[in-house]
Amino acid sequence: MLRFAGVLLERARKKNSRLILALDIRGMINSRIIRAQRILDSVNEDIAGVKINFHLILPFGLEGIKPILRYCKEKEIPTIADIKLNDIASTNEEVASLMINYGFDSIIANPIVGFIDGLQGLVKLSHDGKLGLLLLVYMSHMGADESYSLKFSRGRKLYTIFADRAKKWKVDGVIVSSRATKIVREVKKSIGNRCLIVTPGIGAQGGNAVRAITSGSDFIIVGRSIIDSNNPARMSEFYKTLAPFYQK
Ligand code: XMP
Repeated sequence: MLRFAGVLLERARKKNSRLILALDIRGMINSRIIRAQRILDSVNEDIAGVKINFHLILPFGLEGIKPILRYCKEKEIPTIADIKLNDIASTNEEVASLMINYGFDSIIANPIVGFIDGLQGLVKLSHDGKLGLLLLVYMSHMGADESYSLKFSRGRKLYTIFADRAKKWKVDGVIVSSRATKIVREVKKSIGNRCLIVTPGIGAQGGNAVRAITSGSDFIIVGRSIIDSNNPARMSEFYKTLAPFYQK
């Protein structure tokens, strides 16, 4: 078990929750940071981790989201930078080094880029316990099938090749759509307990938390159903209860 995967599981045990909050704050730019802080504070006890996306990283940059990253460090909430990194090694490694310096615990990357002069350095950082690495295996949007199910030699689908890469490279986790429970089961069968399975697409995109977990998901990612609700604390408690750590 790699360091980041262990830290995420430890927090999940402590809070009895498999919920990762997607802190996707939209609307008025000026109030996004303060709204993000308020929501985080109100759901802190219910979440195993937090995923931060372009909604905050683009308008504010790493400098601007320092208060959020600091809060997460103080409260020991593991953080994931959802930037689906997909570049050559020198760029990937520069991005990773910035993420580490600003206090992110993990990053999402796209395995399409390959290992040599691609993700090799990120894999090493995850093995060294410096920055966790989660790989996209099957995305959650409706069009995912158009690409992730493309067939290659001997009829193998792209997502099975990506799952094999995650296994071979020994990364912390894989991202698989909660809406594709058959694929979650298939990936679970293939990778077993070697990597965590993290499933987005719950709620707003139609995925079901309980079905995802019973299919083999270790963590669920929920954004809009919590963030855009009138009562984020109640919604996060709801998802925590749906996906507790100890009653799998
Ligand atoms: P919602 O509002 O749909 O938010 O609960 C989901 C969050 O997760 C991101 N997302 C993904 N991230 N692989 C990823 O790495 C995926 O397949 C995927 N699907 C959704 C989305 O951008 C949002 O932050």
